[in-house]
Amino acid sequence: MNTHTQTMPVERSAPGKVILCGEHSVVYKRPAIAVPLSDLRARATVVPAPKNQGLRLVAADLDEETLLQDAPPQHPLAAIARGVLGYLDPTPTFPLGGEGPDATLTVRSALPIAAGLGSGAAVSVASARALAAYLGHELDAEMASALSYEVEKIHHGTPSGIDNTVIAYEQPVYFVKGTPPQVFTIGATFHLLIADSGIPSSTREAVAGVRRRWEAAPETYNELFDRIAALVDAARTAVAGGDVRALGPLLDENHSLLCEMGVSLPELDRLVDAARAAGALGAKLTGGGAGGNIIALVPPERAGAVLAALEAASAARVWQTTLGEG
Ligand code: MEV
Repeated sequence: MNTHTQTMPVERSAPGKVILCGEHSVVYKRPAIAVPLSDLRARATVVPAPKNQGLRLVAADLDEETLLQDAPPQHPLAAIARGVLGYLDPTPTFPLGGEGPDATLTVRSALPIAAGLGSGAAVSVASARALAAYLGHELDAEMASALSYEVEKIHHGTPSGIDNTVIAYEQPVYFVKGTPPQVFTIGATFHLLIADSGIPSSTREAVAGVRRRWEAAPETYNELFDRIAALVDAARTAVAGGDVRALGPLLDENHSLLCEMGVSLPELDRLVDAARAAGALGAKLTGGGAGGNIIALVPPERAGAVLAALEAASAARVWQTTLGEG
């Protein structure tokens, strides 16, 4: 592949995501729906550096940096950089093979870490795009997603691939593991609140916990996954058809089934209950659970009241977003 090292700084970004419904069961090849959070983004810049520096990787929010050549294979920024370099130039020759160009890649993110909002995949997609662009190549969504999926394995162990997909495509997706993502259009404006429990959530541990329980009681869990699959299909019809009122009860049902799967926490249930009591049409945890965030679907005229109720129920942060506008 033809690439060239340019000396102009570049910046690329990628959104966060929320899973509307179908998390966890998506790992077991049931469908899920996810939407990008275009207002909350990770940003990566690549700027030239002095000759023979090699590629420096800076995670600005964490105050961490390393040279690519010193980073272990499990280092997420090193893994995405090595993936990009290997894709652009699979032969181990200077300047791409080995240690990459003399440059500094810096990543910053507005997304909370370990909160189920796709921070890891957003950092990977933004970094992959920035490094490739610096080397003269714009990554398409499919390749940005595929490269990021390799890093998701480091973060999550056995990821379904939904996070890297929705983040790289930056469009609503109906996703079934192992099949091409189905991008679709939202039929009306949906108003969502996203409330952070403030409890860090390890997707890796949450996914491993479901796997242990599934192995111990496969019939029970397969039935839960099938019930979620049915509601995800109904949710797709509601979202694509702009039927805001039909979506609410489906979110509630999904939360109940996630509780049965053992991935909720009293703190998440409290936020969900507070949102419903203040007028949300439906609410559920989103992402891996065991901490992290909930989402609440609200009629616009109740958004202020639900937001206040979530804050009163000790949400660490609340974001408002709309889906399907414009
Ligand atoms: C994480 O955002 C969603 C999970 O379903 C894990 C995955 O799909 O890889 C919990």
